[in-house]
Amino acid sequence: MAVPMIKQAILLCLAFAAPVSAQTTGQTSGPSLTLADRVKSSTLSRDALLARPDAVEVTIARDPVYGGRAMSYRAIPAAALLQELAVGADDFVQARATDDFSVSIPARLLTAAAGSDVEAFVAIETAAAPWPPLPGANKKGSAGPFTIVWRMTTPGSVSGEYWAYHLAALTIVDSPYKRWPQLAVGADVPAVDPVRQGLDRYVAVCMACHRFDGAGDGTMGPDLARPLNPAEWFQPDALRKFIRDPKSVRDWPDAKMAAADPESLPDADIDAIVAWLTYKARRK
Ligand code: HEC
Repeated sequence: MAVPMIKQAILLCLAFAAPVSAQTTGQTSGPSLTLADRVKSSTLSRDALLARPDAVEVTIARDPVYGGRAMSYRAIPAAALLQELAVGADDFVQARATDDFSVSIPARLLTAAAGSDVEAFVAIETAAAPWPPLPGANKKGSAGPFTIVWRMTTPGSVSGEYWAYHLAALTIVDSPYKRWPQLAVGADVPAVDPVRQGLDRYVAVCMACHRFDGAGDGTMGPDLARPLNPAEWFQPDALRKFIRDPKSVRDWPDAKMAAADPESLPDADIDAIVAWLTYKARRK
């Protein structure tokens, strides 16, 4: 019963994700990267990217996508790539993967100047030096053709999900908070309340797959507000346990939600997400 519906949903998404580029440049044979803002879009071939004078060699001491090993990449500073696009201070950049999975990254992180605490690069896999396969049983191939990597002064200061691999496109979008006001917490909630941190972590980690009361682009998992919010039917401890490792609560061969490792999603973040879900459940 459910399978055709899921397929239909995926097909619908693909239909909406069909290219709408106003202007396309560069060659499209072989891997290519699409860069778009609200009015223009361009597609750059791997060769065109490699030929750019700002391509550099970057070494990443601990690459979480590769299980924390050191990696070296041919890469272009993300700030340089995004320079040709119209980017507002509060905008986000939607990083879309070749399989249509996408994650939204605050533009201010990607456009931070060289020498900042956090510096992003778009790494390019070359035919001459292919990257190793991604670790993990359900991962396919390498992180290529493109992947976002981060150089930072404080380890772990960029969430794990911002290391977007299998990258196909970067698109400037409104902040998720602006696009989906139904996510918001009330003005009466103090700035330091974990509910606010929970919303931020939800947007960064969970929204890639889930919608909330219709908010979001994710379609892999169920809507977490309708018909019921999990805080309405999960005991808080079981919900925390589920978010840490879904298979520890219910296990079946088709389960797609992965366990979250404590380094990218500490217990405090899970507590905060549960606090936000509970807050939203009480205000339905
Ligand atoms: C990679 C995609 C993905 C991400 C990221 C993800 N989920 Fe899920 N989630 C799913 C899928 C798919 C399901 C349905 C069960 C399954 O297949 O594992 C699910 C199920 C759930 C459920 C159970 C709902 C039910 O009706 O059984 C909860 C609660 C949940 N997710 C919360 C979260 C939270 C909170 C986060 C962020 C910390 C998150 N998920 C991140 C894909 C994801």
